[in-house]
Amino acid sequence: MTAGQLHPPQRHVLVGVSGGIAIYKAVEFVRLLTKEGYGPTVVTTAAAKRFVMPLTFAAVARAGVLDDEASWQPSGGWFEHIEAARRADVMVVAPATANTVAKLAHGLADNLLSAIYLAFRGPVIVAPSANWAMYEHEATQRNLEILAGRGVDVLPTGIGDLACGEEGAGRMASPEVIMAAVRRAFAGLAKGALAGRKIVVTAGGTREAIDAVRYIGNRSSGKMGRAVADEAYLRGADVVLITTRSGDETAYRKVVVESAAEMADAVARESADAGVLVMAAAVADYRPQEVSEGKLERAAAPELTLRLVPTVDILGQTRRAGLVRVGFAAEAGPRIDRARAKKAAKGVDILVFNDILAAGIGIGSDENEITILTPAREAHVPRTSKTACARALLDEVETVLTGG
Ligand SMILES: Cc1cc2nc3c(=O)[nH]c(=O)nc-3n(C[C@H](O)[C@H](O)[C@H](O)COP(=O)(O)O)c2cc1C
Repeated sequence: MTAGQLHPPQRHVLVGVSGGIAIYKAVEFVRLLTKEGYGPTVVTTAAAKRFVMPLTFAAVARAGVLDDEASWQPSGGWFEHIEAARRADVMVVAPATANTVAKLAHGLADNLLSAIYLAFRGPVIVAPSANWAMYEHEATQRNLEILAGRGVDVLPTGIGDLACGEEGAGRMASPEVIMAAVRRAFAGLAKGALAGRKIVVTAGGTREAIDAVRYIGNRSSGKMGRAVADEAYLRGADVVLITTRSGDETAYRKVVVESAAEMADAVARESADAGVLVMAAAVADYRPQEVSEGKLERAAAPELTLRLVPTVDILGQTRRAGLVRVGFAAEAGPRIDRARAKKAAKGVDILVFNDILAAGIGIGSDENEITILTPAREAHVPRTSKTACARALLDEVETVLTGG
């Protein structure tokens, strides 16, 4: 390894940078790629160079930057578009302007970035970035659909303050989310049992309305479900996270719900064509029978009695051939016997048991200690991060998927 080189450069990511204001985030993204040993090569459009000097990218990538000018020099670099495409394992376009998205969608090749895209044959990730009106314009949306339909991983944009001073959709994914997409692309090249399969994961605690402002809820943080969804995404799965938490940024599709009934509808809809369903959400068992439309007044009655009725049994309703179902049993105490009974009653393929009374784990914590009940065995995972628990669980899911 030469001085200054952090990892052997066996993996290459080609980063196409176009002229969007989110380009400052692309600098950080390229820095992360270098740090994690992805040997980035940056190619800029002419507009990109008007925002950030290529020297900035060269310094964080520790490699020269490719651009149109270099390819038109009589002294060399003419076949850079073919050679760069040949060298790279994964291509990322970040930020992808509406203009560059249009070029990629329609096969235009009038600059080095778009020519490389046509010459490249590996996984492509596109991180769009635009003012909300440009992003939501039918032309841009159609172009993104064309790219997604071609297998390009089009990352979701965030909603919020935009650099133009307006608010709305079109904010580029964070460098961390784009990094996750890169890791996933490399995992997809390795092709495990989850790669390309649709997996639906639920997360968070449901809220059952009492009136317009109050609800009955639970302490679930959604961290376990999120860890499972993130890990499945890294293994190349087509992930849909059905969650009660609206704020979290994800690299994959997210459906935000509130009540058990909304979660049941979303699970029924999304799992119809899925291969795996992981029900990590803490779904309320009961909901108030009556929901007051306004706000219940304290002064109106000295006491308040709520009548609770059972919610839908989501897991029980999802049984079908071809769907691997995973349930969770959070028990108060070391009651693995109850988990075994729940596994049989719900007919799930895998059941994850944890004891919520054990210190430092479970609800709200970053750690967990679980026992995974599979068709073949009971695997105990001693106290560790929820990410490590998610990995152990998905290893078991992959074993079930491959008939093990
Ligand atoms: C200050 C400024 C910010 C811009 N930000 C964006 C943006 O975020 N997204 C976008 O699609 N276009 C943006 N544009 C317009 C593009 O730079 C313009 O369409 C350009 O032709 C894109 O060229 P390229 O796709 O070859 O890089 C911006 C322009 C300016 C002057």
